Amino acid sequence: VGLWLVGAFGGVGTTITLGLATMARGLVDQTGLVTDLPDFRELSLPEPGDFVVGGHEIRRTSFQESAEEFRRNTGVFDASWLSACRDDLAAASSRVRPGPKLGLGPAIARLADWETESEPATARQAIDRIKADIAAFVKAEKIDHLIVLNVASTEAPFGIGEPHQTMAALNGSLSRTDALILPASSHYALAALEEGHTYLNFTPSLGASFPAAWELAETTGSLFGGKDGKTGETLMKTVLAPMFAARNFKVMSWVGHNIFGNRDGVVLDDPNNKSSKVETKDKVITEILGYKPASVVSIEYVPDMGDWKTAWDHIHFKGFLGTKMVLQFIWQGCDSLLAAPLGVDLARLADLEKQRGGKGLMRHLSCFFKGPEGDDENDFFKQYARLEEYVASLR
Ligand code: NAI
Repeated sequence: VGLWLVGAFGGVGTTITLGLATMARGLVDQTGLVTDLPDFRELSLPEPGDFVVGGHEIRRTSFQESAEEFRRNTGVFDASWLSACRDDLAAASSRVRPGPKLGLGPAIARLADWETESEPATARQAIDRIKADIAAFVKAEKIDHLIVLNVASTEAPFGIGEPHQTMAALNGSLSRTDALILPASSHYALAALEEGHTYLNFTPSLGASFPAAWELAETTGSLFGGKDGKTGETLMKTVLAPMFAARNFKVMSWVGHNIFGNRDGVVLDDPNNKSSKVETKDKVITEILGYKPASVVSIEYVPDMGDWKTAWDHIHFKGFLGTKMVLQFIWQGCDSLLAAPLGVDLARLADLEKQRGGKGLMRHLSCFFKGPEGDDENDFFKQYARLEEYVASLR
């Protein structure tokens, strides 16, 4: 199975790659992987060592360097894992290609230092270059099933319009040079879907979330899913909000402040890019409760915290006889270590679905996402129950 990481050398991409290598070598157990739970163990899921990692990046570095940087700044990863997996990381680094710079937006473009001889001028050229890189990987590594997993920086929201409604309209616009027709994330999505590969979007960026891309996935029979991994504060929100609803408490306000210091934070420090994240974080409560409490979501970049994120949530609610009460929680998580196992789970479950001959949107994966594609259900327990039903149906 090929796992093609967009944003390969980032925190999540690096942790997935090192995580697969350490698991394959038996250096660590699989705590944190949903697919390691007893219900999943009898399924024909690929093992960590079955994945061949490749990908795209816009920063010129390597898995070895990014893992070392991560270890220094965040204090995770045992130094012995890095030396034991040095060859695996080097091999995977050699399969990472420079990503096109078209459609990055200013905040992400500032990170890009991997120079190439020429840069695409149109979306069509960007898509074709991505396709050529992926095709070379598939051929060289004899890949049966390729999964493109977007773990690249969060883009600013991208307004879609007429050309994004059908593939016929979109195809007519992909060669335009006078306007940016798609953000970078969607170039990768279309490159994957045009070839019948699987596409998963772990970020809030546009990716395949527009009607023409869905139509394309249907035509080529590609599997897809998204978007924005549900790992920390939002996971807590979608676990707690159903409780308030079920006890008929009225939530008056839900305030969440997040501080963290990784590279994702650098990009999210830009107000445009931040607004994509705030949107997916904020929506879930309204959808679960059925009304919109007053809310504040802040995300602030504090460099010395590295990949450690602290979220403080203050929930003000009303109970019997109008009595006002408060629930507060503090979540201190290590972002990439929360995200990476879900990336592996998604890839394993997508491969299982491929083996079954599945096509199209994988709704049973909603519990992994903050903004589940084509699904209004945000209640974590209902989402998870659906995944359990799916697993039971395979037995
Ligand atoms: P990061 O900043 O460490 O990594 C992102 C990487 O993507 C960087 O190395 C960057 O150079 C690269 N990149 C950006 N645009 C690219 C492009 N067009 N083509 C190729 N490479 C590109 O960020 P991190 O922490 O790894 O997060 C990755 C993504 O996952 C972000 O969008 C984040 O919002 C999302 N995410 C992360 C979660 C978590 O860490 N717990 C939870 C949910 C989503």
